[in-house]
Amino acid sequence: MRDQVVVVTGASSGIGAATALAFAQAGAKVVGLGRDQARLQKMAEKLDLVLTMDVTRPESIEIAAAAVLDRYGHIDVLVNNAGVGLFVEEAETEEEALRDLMEVNFFGMRRVTRAFSASLLENKGVLVQVASVAGLRGYARHTAYCASKHALIGWSEALRAEWGPKGASVVIVCPPAIDTPFFDHAGYTDFRKDHPRLHLLSPERVAAEILDGVRHRRHRVIIGLRAKVLYTLFCVAPGMLERVRG
Ligand SMILES: NC(=O)c1ccc[n+]([C@@H]2O[C@H](COP(=O)([O-])OP(=O)(O)OC[C@H]3O[C@@H](n4cnc5c(N)ncnc54)[C@H](OP(=O)(O)O)[C@@H]3O)[C@@H](O)[C@H]2O)c1
Repeated sequence: MRDQVVVVTGASSGIGAATALAFAQAGAKVVGLGRDQARLQKMAEKLDLVLTMDVTRPESIEIAAAAVLDRYGHIDVLVNNAGVGLFVEEAETEEEALRDLMEVNFFGMRRVTRAFSASLLENKGVLVQVASVAGLRGYARHTAYCASKHALIGWSEALRAEWGPKGASVVIVCPPAIDTPFFDHAGYTDFRKDHPRLHLLSPERVAAEILDGVRHRRHRVIIGLRAKVLYTLFCVAPGMLERVRG
C-alpha cells in the first residue's frame, strides 16, 4: 500500500479508526474523515490528514473531496465506512427515523462515492463499502438497519457491474457484531447484556480483512467463520437457520 492515497470515512471511531491505522501502518497516505472534531484530532498525528465531513451534508462532502483532490491529485482507495444503527421493533420504527438512517447508511455512502468516483475510475482504484451481515439476511429489531444495508449491497453490486469493465473494483465488507461503540452510539446500551453468548470480533480484525480485501480486490468479505457458516446455511436452507438463530 506504500504511498497509495486512501480515504476512510467514519475514521473517528471503531472500524473506521482501526482501518485508517491499518492502512497507515501499511505505508499508505491516509485521509480520515468524520464528524466529531475531538475524536478526529486524536487520530491526526497517526494519519496524513484528518478533515471533518458529515455524509448527510452534500456541501460538506464537496469541501472535503476538493481538499483531498487538491492536495493529492487523486485517490486510490475509498473506504466508505461511516454508518449508524437503529435497533427497535418495526412497530416502533418511525418513518422519519428510517429516512434518517437511510440518509447516512445509503445516501451518505452514495454521495461520498460520487464525490470520488471520477478519481477512482481514472486510477482503476478500489471502493470499499462497509455493509454488514445485516445486509445479507434479516434480524429481529433490525428492520431499518437491514433495509439500509441491503440497499447498500444491491447498489454496490450494480456499481461493480458498471465499474468492473473499466478496471475499478468494489469490495463489499460484511462484518458481524464488532466490539466498537456502535450499539451505544445507536442508543442500544443493553446490546451486550441481551447477547451474552455472542463473541464480538475486534475492529482490528475487520481492518486486517479490509486491507486483504483491497490487496486481492475481493468481491465480498464476510468477516469471521460463524458469519460465513450462517450465511451459507441461510443460502441453502433459510428455514433451518430460523431454528439456530441466537
Ligand atoms: N460494530 C458493529 O457491530 C458493526 C457490524 C457490522 C457493520 N458495521 C458497520 O461498520 C461501520 C462502522 O461502524 P462502527 O462499529 O465503527 O461504529 P462507530 O464506532 O459508532 O463509528 C461510526 C463512525 O461513523 C461516523 N458517522 C456516523 N454518522 C456520520 C455522518 N452523518 N457523517 C460522517 N460520519 C458519520 C462516526 O463519526 P463521528 O464519531 O465523528 O460522529 C464514526 O466515526 C458502520 O457502517 C456500521 O454500520 C458495524
